[in-house]
Amino acid sequence: MKFFVDTADLDDIKDLADTGLLDGVTTNPSLIAKSGKQFIPLIKEICDIVPGPVSAEVAATDYETMRKEADVLRNIADNVAVKVPLTPAGLKVCKELSDEGTMVNVTLCFSAAQALLAAKAGAAFISPFVGRLDDISFNGLELIADICTIYDNYAYFDTEVLVASVRNPLHIIESAKMGAHVATCPASVIRQLYNHPLTDKGLAAFVEDWKKTGQSIL
Ligand code: E4P
Repeated sequence: MKFFVDTADLDDIKDLADTGLLDGVTTNPSLIAKSGKQFIPLIKEICDIVPGPVSAEVAATDYETMRKEADVLRNIADNVAVKVPLTPAGLKVCKELSDEGTMVNVTLCFSAAQALLAAKAGAAFISPFVGRLDDISFNGLELIADICTIYDNYAYFDTEVLVASVRNPLHIIESAKMGAHVATCPASVIRQLYNHPLTDKGLAAFVEDWKKTGQSIL
């Protein structure tokens, strides 16, 4: 499973890129607003840090403007994935860009029917939002299972399931069991993956016992 970080915070991106375990980045207009930075130069900077796909989202909702924005975004760097909303206009832009070889991430997916449309439009990624479904008492992980099942039925779909709106490590683990290709997570959730109390306890004991030997490896 690939890990993307869902942030526009450069410190978090650099820190996670440094682990060697980060495969990409997703941003959205809310995350850009939170960063307080200028969108285009910020995406360029992120693309220079992370060689994997970096999602940059269009702001317009009508086809003509969205298409023009998409052309600007895809010219920022080769690893930009243009992010479009799951609307008729968004999927039209998705089909055109995908046919031209540009990666497209279709966002705001909340149903298997929508995911089917995105695959038919040639999306590189479909972003179903598990956390936001859970928030309204729908089972977000059931949607991931449905999309994985449907995509597996059609070998010619090469859209990757990008689990979004991840709130906790369980969302990642359960999605990985289902075969979802990517999880995009807040930096805090990626860091949570390392943690287990028995690891901390075991390591403390090993450190203490090693001291008792009086030896040094170096
Ligand atoms: C996906 O790409 C979105 O940026 C993101 O996962 C949304 O998550 P949220 O529901 O925590 O805002």
